[in-house]
Amino acid sequence: MNPQWVEGRAHEASVIAAGSTGPKMTLRELKAISSDPEATAAALEFDDIALSSSSDRQMAEVIADLYDKAKSSVTADDVLVANGATGANTIVFEALLSPGDHIICTFPAYAGLVDVPRALGADISYLHLSEKNNWDIDVPSLKSLIKPSTKMIVLNNPHNPTGATLSTEKQAEILKMASEQNITVLCDEIFRPLFHTDNTPTSFQEHSGYDKVITTGSLSKAWGFPGVRIGWIVCRNAKLRHSMSVVQNWILQDNSVIDKIIGAEVLSERCRPNILAKNLGYAKENLQLLKRFLEANKDTVSCVIPTGAATAFPKIMRDGQAVDDGEFCNTILKEQGLLVPPATQCFGPDPDGELKGRFRFHITIPPENFKKAIGALEAFITSEKFKGMKI
Ligand SMILES: Cc1ncc(COP(=O)(O)O)c(C=O)c1O
Repeated sequence: MNPQWVEGRAHEASVIAAGSTGPKMTLRELKAISSDPEATAAALEFDDIALSSSSDRQMAEVIADLYDKAKSSVTADDVLVANGATGANTIVFEALLSPGDHIICTFPAYAGLVDVPRALGADISYLHLSEKNNWDIDVPSLKSLIKPSTKMIVLNNPHNPTGATLSTEKQAEILKMASEQNITVLCDEIFRPLFHTDNTPTSFQEHSGYDKVITTGSLSKAWGFPGVRIGWIVCRNAKLRHSMSVVQNWILQDNSVIDKIIGAEVLSERCRPNILAKNLGYAKENLQLLKRFLEANKDTVSCVIPTGAATAFPKIMRDGQAVDDGEFCNTILKEQGLLVPPATQCFGPDPDGELKGRFRFHITIPPENFKKAIGALEAFITSEKFKGMKI
């Protein structure tokens, strides 16, 4: 994602459906959503907190609690606290990759998962995802990209921007393949557990056996606190964890003591289930609206319904051909005040034409805003301006 494209235009928009976080919350809202508001208010009483460096232990414990104990042996000892998922992913790449190391990344991708290893000199092979395969990973294609020198497979599940999820069975296949070749698997699970079907896949940490598996996450998406810069790295392999903790110490030193207190409260049993229920409720309502919109506009819009994460990745067509998504997004902003990011400019390059005509559509915004976004799309694709657009 190219944040500059969105930030430079936000002031022109009346409806913003360009992001990918949960609905952002205030501390007042956190206290109100808690099942024990008094206890939450007491936990968020900062006046007597010493503003010094502080232990990560409490934060690491609530992060370890995110994993299903019946399936996973993750404990607080396996957790490194970082500065958002941005900091977490950067620590992983800095610690484990050297110039020339071969890695495999899915594409399209959240840019940080590709740009950071590229900047570190990694040799990247792309596993191209496609709409006709529901944006799912084809394991034989992934296997065909492995070289004797492959060091890491970089995944993102649930996936930004497509909203696709990787099933438990496919995760197991990938882990088997990785373990046979001694390849580290990094899965950015920042959107976990935003799942929109009953068939909820496991985390990559909820498989037994192979331990060269790293997952990253943060408070930014499912938990709605992107301004609280708490993220995490989970890894059960002590050697990998040691390499990452050295980098963590010298890049980060420590997270803000205030952020850690807020983060532990957000992920507490009294707040976490209620935040998730609210965000999943928004997505459920919005996906109904999206399905109706797609059904009524089949000739103009195609979209795989997201099974996870916070975004959909629709394609706009005219006379059966993908429109110029840059022009589409700029014009709908001018004509209807709707801000959505164009795929080729925000998720490119687009060597196989899979991105053309697409934009990313935020599905966890409040339904009253999503309704306005759908209204703007409907008005625009039936307008004279749309008929004159480049394809
Ligand atoms: C897949 C993915 N990873 C990491 C990030 C960065 O998140 P954070 O705010 O926790 O740094 C994002 C943000 O959009 C993302 O989509």
